[in-house]
Amino acid sequence: MNTRDTLRVNERGHLEIGGADCTELAKNFGTPLYVFDEDYIRGMMRTLRDTIAREYGDGLVLYASKAFSCEAMYAIAKQEKIGADVVSGGELYTAMKAGFPAENICMHGNNKLPSEISYALDCGVGLLVVDNSSEADLLEAECAARGRVQDVLLRINPGVEAHTHKFIQTATPDSKFGFSVQSGSAEEMTSYLLKSPHLRLRGFHCHIGSQIFEKQSFVLAAEKCLSFMAAMREKFAFEADTLNLGGGFGIWYCDGDEKFDFEGYAGYLRALITAVKAGCGKYGLKQPRLMIEPGRSIVGEAGITLYTVGAIKEIKGIRKYVAVDGGMFDDPRYCLYGSKYTALLANRADEPATEKVSIAGKCCESGDLIGVDMPLPEARRGDILAVLSTGAYNYSMASNYNRNLIPPAVLVKDGNAEYIVKPQSYEDLVRNDVLPERLK
Ligand SMILES: Cc1ncc(COP(=O)(O)O)c(C=O)c1O
Repeated sequence: MNTRDTLRVNERGHLEIGGADCTELAKNFGTPLYVFDEDYIRGMMRTLRDTIAREYGDGLVLYASKAFSCEAMYAIAKQEKIGADVVSGGELYTAMKAGFPAENICMHGNNKLPSEISYALDCGVGLLVVDNSSEADLLEAECAARGRVQDVLLRINPGVEAHTHKFIQTATPDSKFGFSVQSGSAEEMTSYLLKSPHLRLRGFHCHIGSQIFEKQSFVLAAEKCLSFMAAMREKFAFEADTLNLGGGFGIWYCDGDEKFDFEGYAGYLRALITAVKAGCGKYGLKQPRLMIEPGRSIVGEAGITLYTVGAIKEIKGIRKYVAVDGGMFDDPRYCLYGSKYTALLANRADEPATEKVSIAGKCCESGDLIGVDMPLPEARRGDILAVLSTGAYNYSMASNYNRNLIPPAVLVKDGNAEYIVKPQSYEDLVRNDVLPERLK
């Protein structure tokens, strides 16, 4: 387990997060329950923000809110004076509801809907990231109709292959995102944008994937971006003033993953800063405003999910299933990517693991698992099972599959827990159902 001040086993032998005993959280709020450690989230935001300020100068950390989007997260990001990255009208709406400053929002998306573009312009988002040429046309037309100029970045694909799961790589040459540097399409689009009367190209964006541990991949991507910036200056006398290097820092999920404290995470950023400074020196470029967009690393390890153990099924000589009251509807990551986790019994967290089990969800899918071969003490019905590092891309990707209720989320600090996402009810499930008269 990757313990820290705010995630530890307490004197009662229970798992504790943010000063709150997980067995008490389960009793008071029910399970399944997403629990988020506020100090961890703020600690990560501050570390990255201060590292850029101290060691680079002009820059902005954007919280990649796709990792976990709810009003409280934007409120915390605002208090911590960082920006946010949004990828849909829904994320933008949530940010606006939380009173997030639109000028510190960067909007992404490989297929932004015309309605989303129009909403982003209404809100006054600081930067839109142009991801394809038809979108550039749409955006230009919309800005022309409004008689205004919008700041944009161009998403480029530097062709760096990060060593991570192939389904979560986004910048290989075959990607639905952005413009390839190698093929020349990034250069063509730069030229197009520089001629667009209502779009002001500020610079470039790249994101090479997620859950990446190799600092060298980030460094290589940064070097390629700098080299592209130099080429664009050469070709078009255009000097970009902004460089957004995306997110993707790898976090700890299980044995074998690196364990970082806040300073360890700052190490990823330092590697980027060094590469950007070196690139600017090499090409004689003015240092651009540096942006990064971490999502998983800000919120992933901050979150855990609590479940109650139900049915236990042992198939002699094959495997033992420990079923919980959640599953792929609150955490689809195993089903999607075969992701690995660490689990423990929160009410017996001081007991050593004695067996390896598969943790099964309650959905009608054989593949509905949280993980296989997970070490645990012998679990009993009623135990509270905690799965660690579930803060990122779990609630975000949750669904009502099988008409299960998406679990609520609580934020814990100094032993106090408050809802940041309320529980759903069965009534919520049918709220948008319509029963036409003739079916009654
Ligand atoms: C454009 C962009 N920026 C930032 C992120 C955040 O990445 P991560 O959560 O791995 O830090 C993503 C996620 O895939 C992304 O697509």
